[in-house]
Amino acid sequence: MFHLGWFLGNGTGMYPWYGTWANTYGRDWTKPDFFIDLATSLERGGFDLLFIEDTAMLEDTYGGSLDMTLKYGMMAPKNDPMPYIPLLAQATRHLGLVGTVSTIQYPPYLAARQAVTLDHLTEGRAGINVVTSVSHRVAQNYGYDQHLSPAERYEMAQEWMDVVSALWESWDPDAVVLDYDEPRYADYTKVHPINHEGKYFKCRGPLNTIPGPQRRPVVAQAGNSTGGRELAAAHADTMLALAKTPDEMKALRDDMDARLIAHGRKPGDLKILFMTVPFAAETDGDAQELVRREEDARRDPEAIAQRLWYLSYTSGGTIDYSRYDLDGPVPQEIGVGETTTSKAWLENSENLTLRELASGPLNYGIDFVGSFDTVAAKMGEAIEVAGPNSGYLFYQPRMSRKDVINITDGLCPALRRRGLIRSSYEHKTFRENLLAF
Ligand SMILES: Cc1cc2nc3c(=O)[nH]c(=O)nc-3n(C[C@H](O)[C@H](O)[C@H](O)COP(=O)(O)O)c2cc1C
Repeated sequence: MFHLGWFLGNGTGMYPWYGTWANTYGRDWTKPDFFIDLATSLERGGFDLLFIEDTAMLEDTYGGSLDMTLKYGMMAPKNDPMPYIPLLAQATRHLGLVGTVSTIQYPPYLAARQAVTLDHLTEGRAGINVVTSVSHRVAQNYGYDQHLSPAERYEMAQEWMDVVSALWESWDPDAVVLDYDEPRYADYTKVHPINHEGKYFKCRGPLNTIPGPQRRPVVAQAGNSTGGRELAAAHADTMLALAKTPDEMKALRDDMDARLIAHGRKPGDLKILFMTVPFAAETDGDAQELVRREEDARRDPEAIAQRLWYLSYTSGGTIDYSRYDLDGPVPQEIGVGETTTSKAWLENSENLTLRELASGPLNYGIDFVGSFDTVAAKMGEAIEVAGPNSGYLFYQPRMSRKDVINITDGLCPALRRRGLIRSSYEHKTFRENLLAF
């Protein structure tokens, strides 16, 4: 069996608000309904987790202006993801809920306390996706002139995670005694300051709330560069990964297993979820038709401009793709932002024009095309190659309610019939279910 996650790739923001299947979303995106429908559907599908992306900025790298961003609602506007977590927990019983927390936006004490509070409110289903933030625009909203270099971002993130982890451990497991007769709530000898003084952070501790049901909320990590892999190997329970073939999946899994062992952990302590954008439908022919329509849609000039907007963003604000000739070569620069995504998107683009790249396949993880049963079989085969402790992170770029149901009520039953995914949730907490197989 393997695990399933859903990537809410534009956080709590603008999913298609115009065109077919948008319905009233343009008016209603700030309301909880769409996200509640998503979460309840994922639970019906047997998903382990919903992963809520976040970025706190209005991005203007493409064309040096906010025009494209606000014309289409690209990565903005969006709400803060964290208040959605208890809301979605109220509507579900088992689904793990992961909100994105940036190491440049949150001082460690604030992050540690908020995550534990969410763990209490969700009764053990809270997680954080620890990111270092991608663009200068985010950094400039949090007191920086420019974002730090990628190497320094990860150095800072390692220290940030050390402090957060120490705070989560600052109450011994038996510190709360709840003795009604004495009376005594907690044993003060079992609650410890952490007295951290490092390069980036200074924090006394202890945490001013008691450990939650999971004690340590689930930690996710998404960068696949060496720095990202090291951060995941040291601290994460789940890692989001980009790989285009089963062999690439296996290479990443093997590399992470070695890193985990070097950190004194076991391969089973980290579930790797591989990004996938599947084209699944009732028949193989219907799925091929979906692909054909998708290829047509990608050639639309507006779709090309939007893809270039995303490339500009993932470059970390260093490359404005609107400046290049669409029929000229693809600039072979990765930038300093989301290097994992930029590398995946630019792979094998040396002989392409920018137009061909921007109207070509999304290249966001591993592709599966076919009937629900065909895709289920292929997903199972790829995991056989990748090895244990792996699973998938589903992404639907133009996510409507219809796209969600297609996966949760079309594909998931086919996966379950093959015994590839869970048919029930055995445990109470998110981490127990995530680590159950
Ligand atoms: C699947 C995926 C999801 C990500 N989600 C976020 C996010 O929600 N917010 C954010 O600021 N960065 C996000 N990132 C960026 C990474 O966390 C990381 O900071 C960035 O990719 C730079 O690290 P790298 O050089 O290792 O790729 C994501 C990256 C990937 C691949």
